[in-house]
Amino acid sequence: MRILYAADYNDLSRKAANLIGAQVIMKPDCVLGLATGSSPLGTYKCLIEAYEKGDLDFSRCFAANLDEYRGLTKDNDQSYAYFMYENLFKHINIDMANTNIPDGTNPDAEAECKRYDEAVAALGGVDIQLLGIGNNGHIGFNEPADEFPTGTHCVDLTDSTIDANARFFARREDVPTQAYTMGIKTIMSAKKILLIASGENKAPIMYEMAAGPVVPSVPASILQMHNDVTVVADAAALSILLEKAPELVEGAPKA
Ligand code: F6R
Repeated sequence: MRILYAADYNDLSRKAANLIGAQVIMKPDCVLGLATGSSPLGTYKCLIEAYEKGDLDFSRCFAANLDEYRGLTKDNDQSYAYFMYENLFKHINIDMANTNIPDGTNPDAEAECKRYDEAVAALGGVDIQLLGIGNNGHIGFNEPADEFPTGTHCVDLTDSTIDANARFFARREDVPTQAYTMGIKTIMSAKKILLIASGENKAPIMYEMAAGPVVPSVPASILQMHNDVTVVADAAALSILLEKAPELVEGAPKA
């Protein structure tokens, strides 16, 4: 795992977008594994700017998103399908037919999870998987558990995740309580992984993710076992790592 220092959110967004952009240039028909949430918004803005400048062409790219709330339709403004369309897809030249996301409206969880795993496998797997990290160490919606979940599955969201996501909804009661998510096996099958994190509230979990034991109670700790993970995080998110294990972080200014 390489952990790269970014001065602030803008710096991390530019660096992350450049890493994704490099993938698109090196393999124009690559499969981009994408995430929602606050962390990737700046990265998506930078990718849009690169597309507008003519530096990136997404016309042959495929996308596979990590997760979707169960029960929300694609046109619900809180669905992850809507988020991806509004914050990235409608601004670039990706073919919407090449974008994939679990279908939150399929009431048959087992069938939907199987369909999604097959869809990702049919693409040949993910070339670069962008991840955010939850305050509790979740990646996708793989919440802390007794074991690492494998393929795409339906999860009950923890109270901490519902609390964290309530900021996007009018009322906490409106936050869906379940989601379909790629499993740890699917995420770990990506050829490359790019995890981004910003802000002081992520500092404790960033330390556990990178320097703690690999345990399912911190799902993101499994990333220590992947052979091509790049973490780009800002100074605030790296603050505890920089204090306790500075040798793990590249590019930080000398104290
Ligand atoms: C989103 C996702 C989640 C988020 C995580 C961090 O598709 O899978 O794991 O990446 O909850 O969210 P933010 O970036 O809002 O802090």
